[in-house]
Amino acid sequence: MDATALQRQNRRIERLKSQGVSRSTVLVHEECRPVLDSLRPHFIDPEKAETLSALVEQLHKKVKPTNVAQVRHLSPFRYPGGKTWLVPEVRQWLLAAKQRPSVFVEPFAGGAIVGLSVAAENLAERVFLCELDDDVAAVWETIFHGSDDDVSEFSRRITTFDVTLDNVRAILESKPRSPKNRAFRTVIKNRMQRGGIMAAGAGLVKEGEAGKGLKSRWYPDTLAKRIEVLRSMKDRIDFEQGDAFEVVRRFADDPEAFFFIDPPYTAGGKKAGSRLYTHNEIDHEGLFALMASVRGSVMMTYDDAPEVREMAQRHGFRIELVPMKNTHHAIIHELLILKP
Ligand SMILES: C[S@@+](CC[C@H](N)C(=O)[O-])C[C@H]1O[C@@H](n2cnc3c(N)ncnc32)[C@H](O)[C@@H]1O
Repeated sequence: MDATALQRQNRRIERLKSQGVSRSTVLVHEECRPVLDSLRPHFIDPEKAETLSALVEQLHKKVKPTNVAQVRHLSPFRYPGGKTWLVPEVRQWLLAAKQRPSVFVEPFAGGAIVGLSVAAENLAERVFLCELDDDVAAVWETIFHGSDDDVSEFSRRITTFDVTLDNVRAILESKPRSPKNRAFRTVIKNRMQRGGIMAAGAGLVKEGEAGKGLKSRWYPDTLAKRIEVLRSMKDRIDFEQGDAFEVVRRFADDPEAFFFIDPPYTAGGKKAGSRLYTHNEIDHEGLFALMASVRGSVMMTYDDAPEVREMAQRHGFRIELVPMKNTHHAIIHELLILKP
């Protein structure tokens, strides 16, 4: 290309850029090339954006949702809003990355199934979990920072607990002072209250599975086994009770950090998060701005709401829809918000 042609091409690229159009390289299988070619002219037309995203939604609807039973359960919690179904997606995300994560940060840890799975499968150098809630934090503190005796005592109390209504009430009304006793009360709360909800106002499980009432969610030996497995991974997992924003800022300059962000869903007037968690007030706008500013990779998960899509777009994130089965076995979609 001669100098004038090159100049002309550069001017054209600049003009297109000012109109919001830039060049993108995609990997494409030959089977899919005809589709790409037929869609090519539509990609530069902003008016086609809505139709194209509807097409993408159709495509995602064809993707089968995860069979949760196929994910190895490591968490002692049955966590409301737990992300077991997302584990395969996160695994793909990390395996497809150019570099091995120096740290996998899960700052809204809750039951932490994602971070625990990353540690168990050795998909990152280390895993950093953070959670604000005192009760939830007591469990992670005991497992990862308690003494061997604390952990044995915690497990022994679980395996020897006699599940009666009186015993459960006595534990729920107790005011434990040590983390290990608080951890035990948390496990009882989580197993005995409806939906695993530990926030104030949750009632006890009534009939439960097969009419077994309180015992229906009580698998003491399984819980003790999970605690033992997690304890054996304590050198790979850090836990800190604190504020997610502060923890994200600490790793913000690390280009090899991977952040998995699953905040309480209270954006766009949604109320689910406020019933499920004690701590549910989140500055969602601030969270998007913070996550857009970190140097590492980001995966956030949210309810599919127009306000959330708008924030994601405004802060330059990519959006994917993933199907999941809710507790009523209906297939619903959640948003994955990604960077880069
Ligand atoms: C949607 S849940 C996380 C569920 C988790 N991904 C799982 O699979 O179990 C959100 C969690 O964030 C916690 N949380 C709320 N505000 C927080 C904050 N500022 N810092 C850290 N954790 C917070 C809540 O207590 C709750 O456990």
